Amino acid sequence: MICRLDTGRKAVEPCAIAIFGASGDLTARKLIPALYHLCKDKQMPPSFQIVGLARREKTDASWRAELRSALDQFSRTKPVDEAVWQEFSQHLAYCRGDLDGAAAYGALEQKLAAFGSEPLRRNLLFYLATSPSQFGQVVEQLHDAGLLQKDPADGWQRVVVEKPFGHDLESARQLNRELTRYARERQVFRIDHYLGKETVQNILTFRFSNAIFERLWNRESIDHVQITVSERQGVGQRGGYYEEAGALRDMVQNHLLQVLSLMAMEPPVSLEAEAIRDEKVKLLKSIRTPSPEEASRQVVRGQYLAGKVDGQSQPGYRQEPKVKPDSTVETYMALKLFIDNWRWSGVPFYLRTGKCLPLSVSEVRVQFRPTPHVLFAAQCGPRLDPNALTLRLQPNEGISLRFNGKVPGASVVVQPVRMDFSYNAEFGAYTPEAYERLLLEAMAGDATLFIRRDEVEAAWQIVDGIRKAWEGKPLSDRELYRAGTWGPLAADDLLAQNGHAWREPLAVK
Ligand code: BG6
Repeated sequence: MICRLDTGRKAVEPCAIAIFGASGDLTARKLIPALYHLCKDKQMPPSFQIVGLARREKTDASWRAELRSALDQFSRTKPVDEAVWQEFSQHLAYCRGDLDGAAAYGALEQKLAAFGSEPLRRNLLFYLATSPSQFGQVVEQLHDAGLLQKDPADGWQRVVVEKPFGHDLESARQLNRELTRYARERQVFRIDHYLGKETVQNILTFRFSNAIFERLWNRESIDHVQITVSERQGVGQRGGYYEEAGALRDMVQNHLLQVLSLMAMEPPVSLEAEAIRDEKVKLLKSIRTPSPEEASRQVVRGQYLAGKVDGQSQPGYRQEPKVKPDSTVETYMALKLFIDNWRWSGVPFYLRTGKCLPLSVSEVRVQFRPTPHVLFAAQCGPRLDPNALTLRLQPNEGISLRFNGKVPGASVVVQPVRMDFSYNAEFGAYTPEAYERLLLEAMAGDATLFIRRDEVEAAWQIVDGIRKAWEGKPLSDRELYRAGTWGPLAADDLLAQNGHAWREPLAVK
């Protein structure tokens, strides 16, 4: 039986979306393609307008033309549907202005007024695709222009903010203070695009709607968990940003810790946003922040050297544009984390992420405890593979369960076999981009897939502790890895300490 949970879901009301930082990459690559697809799939509200704000001089027509060529390049469905584009582009307007001056906000106000429809002036989604250093200023100006109020008498106003949300706990707290000076926490939608991915959302459904797995989901049955988010690409043109961020801030603080919290949290009391986020915060708070000595044993960083990825030559990180020739910034991270609670005490959670690795894959592998050492295990020893469950988040999205079976024949040969669920095979190729879902939820006012204030702070608390362990220390040879390999040798040592080894991801290229 198919059970629909969204029947009580609020309809998306007519609204205006103002994108700050409209000339940037995110707008062209993600936001506009996502909004175009929502329009194509008839999920946009009955009336809507999108206003792009940026400093460059553009007209509505020139901005639309730019977005059209971006869409030709980045749309997940090609070719672009001409009729849908014609209809969609009528909703796009450009507003030139300096985000730190009041004039831009006055101009925005006028644009909104010119739409002539009451809901489009009242229901406002402000998307801050700008540098975080501008968040405070933008919300203040919006407030001063009367566009953002904490308790509007009519309609709603929401602020969506992109990552990176700060660069440490203190700066995240500061950003939170700046945002909540002019907006209530319930009006702030902090993005982590991993939460917009279908497969990441499915983690909770999988865990809490299947009795057989949830019963095993604890220290009694699970030996360890591996979470891998690997990428083939190097930092490319993002060297400047990466020099400030590194893999720990860019990937671990948000995407990996989010996946970990969904995998390990307790069942929420309901599927309401606050109930789910309460459990995620509780989980993040139970992750033991390693002391500096523990971090030196539990955390490995790495940086890629020149090599070949998929047959293509790849320069080393230090040779990338805008990267310092002696940079010690990490492009790879591997961590062993422990969760100090009743369910997970003593179970290692291994997390790894890196650039210039052999595959672009995100997956979670849950390894169960081995069988007792009698019968088969006595004979096969470590060659008898323990059961493992793999959640393939991307690509080749699906879930597989590995167990042992007898190879047909007279002699007893035990071999691991797999039971496999594939999204494509089961549901067809329905793969909306994460931003489609996130924009839709922000318009509907559902914060489940966004990060709450205390959640972002709890994640920074862990990451700050880890970073302190290596700050200022040069990289050793065991922390460097050739592009196209699975990371530094030190990352293998990390698992070997516990008799474990990284498993090659199952997802295909
Ligand atoms: C972003 C990081 O948040 O996530 C990038 O800034 C990274 O460095 C990207 O490449 C990975 O996202 P996805 O959806 O391609 O796995």
